Amino acid sequence: MIACCIFDLDGVLVDTARYHYEAWASLARDLGFVFTPEQGEATKGVSRMASLEIVLRAGGLQDRFTAAERERLAAEKNARYLAAVARMTPAEVLPGVRDFLCDAARHDVRRVLGSASKNAAAILDRCDLRACFDAVIDGTLATKAKPDPEVFLRGAAAVGAAPDTCVVFEDAAAGIEAAMRGGMRSVGVAGGESLAAATLRIDSFEGCSFEALAAALERKTGDL
Ligand code: BG6
Ligand code: MG
Repeated sequence: MIACCIFDLDGVLVDTARYHYEAWASLARDLGFVFTPEQGEATKGVSRMASLEIVLRAGGLQDRFTAAERERLAAEKNARYLAAVARMTPAEVLPGVRDFLCDAARHDVRRVLGSASKNAAAILDRCDLRACFDAVIDGTLATKAKPDPEVFLRGAAAVGAAPDTCVVFEDAAAGIEAAMRGGMRSVGVAGGESLAAATLRIDSFEGCSFEALAAALERKTGDL
């Protein structure tokens, strides 16, 4: 039985993962090194400050900056990210997402956002998605970063759902691990082999009905 679907935001509902990566890559360029898309994978699902550590380590600069300088670098990345997402429109919601959310609602399934991002609420508003959710747990509420399950457990609690009745939708390995640690099933979205630990994987929500997904999860057949 599925009582609640918990959705990551960046890379699952909207294509903001690329804006996060581009902002880190441009910061890295200013610091004198190339931060590759492959290295960027490790920042998915991870908090802003933890992502900064990944970026600095990639450039061999992990010991170079004070705490205050790190705060300034993270603020600079966020400013670049916000400049990019300020131009977002509802058209940037990924294919099939809106239909899937409506379909889940028709099946009386609670819909929760579980994101590490402190910018999640602003992006939901820009993309006209806020009304699709019964609860929003984001980086301003969660204190522990994925793969800690805190964000998902808080989300389940917010709608009174038991963890084993929840399904988490994630594009990041850290998020799949968080779901597992929280005792929840997971659907890896568009992540390839890095999401092999997910209960089920889908390429996108396009053409994906809630019923078909629920049936596939029941059977645990792998890719849908
Ligand atoms: C996650 C993204 O959703 O949010 C990460 O996958 C990002 O890449 C994290 O670092 C924190 O986001 P923000 O918007 O608070 O900097
Ligand atoms: Mg994500």
